[in-house]
Amino acid sequence: MNKTDAIWITGASSGIGKSLAIKFSENNYKVIGTARRIENINDLNSSNSLNVVSYKNDISKIEEISQFYSEIKKNYSITCLINNAGITSFKPFKDNTVNEIESIIDTNLKGSIYSVKTVLPEMIVRKSGLIINILSVAANTVFTNSSIYAASKAGLAAFAKVLREELREYNIPVINIYPGATSTEIWPEKTIEKFSHRMMNSTKLADLIFDIYKNSTNLSPEEIVVRPITGDL
Ligand SMILES: NC(=O)c1ccc[n+]([C@@H]2O[C@H](COP(=O)([O-])OP(=O)(O)OC[C@H]3O[C@@H](n4cnc5c(N)ncnc54)[C@H](OP(=O)(O)O)[C@@H]3O)[C@@H](O)[C@H]2O)c1
Repeated sequence: MNKTDAIWITGASSGIGKSLAIKFSENNYKVIGTARRIENINDLNSSNSLNVVSYKNDISKIEEISQFYSEIKKNYSITCLINNAGITSFKPFKDNTVNEIESIIDTNLKGSIYSVKTVLPEMIVRKSGLIINILSVAANTVFTNSSIYAASKAGLAAFAKVLREELREYNIPVINIYPGATSTEIWPEKTIEKFSHRMMNSTKLADLIFDIYKNSTNLSPEEIVVRPITGDL
């Protein structure tokens, strides 16, 4: 049976991932959207007349990713993985609990690495594919109250830069995108109230990422920083 080419977007239930799912789906790409809140992805379909394949999973759990992949791979070939799911805590490190530290690292860093590990073997066999990581300016810029988040994003950036070199011979580019402040649920409500006028819009960011995707043929934009025009908050 012929499989359908699909783009796997992690964290498609809100914010940047949701905007990406809408953008790719509106442009007739088959999107598989994953998140814990699968109902949000289903709502996205009904309110936008889209047909995103929704699947509930927790990216921080390797067994849930494996289960997901074993089910979808019967029908779909993942041609592009967008590692987007992410969390943070906005606290000074001294106040971070061990649970918070583990959740942030397990989701942002290990979850993204597990996702790559899961889709990569088939991409290597096909000698084609694309991995897009949604990192953050926090990987390279110092923001207080974000130490674990910064560690997770800088760690993923370091991983992805090595991976990029290892995958050149297989024709699998790795694109790292480092967004600045974007108005989404990741921010506390008070920050959104005060600063949303200075933040990027997730729809516009998704438009840009879609353009980057479309223009990644035999040239690859490897490291892309996208900030609000007025700079960091
Ligand atoms: N907003 C910004 O200013 C900004 C700037 C730079 C980078 N980023 C990055 O952009 C990405 C998207 O964030 P956002 O701003 O769009 O925030 P968001 O609206 O809170 O979206 C986060 C997404 O990640 C998913 N997610 C979180 N933990 C998960 C888990 N354990 N398993 C599966 N999915 C999980 C959430 O889905 P469920 O809760 O339904 O599981 C949700 O869909 C993140 O990696 C973030 O670090 C954001």
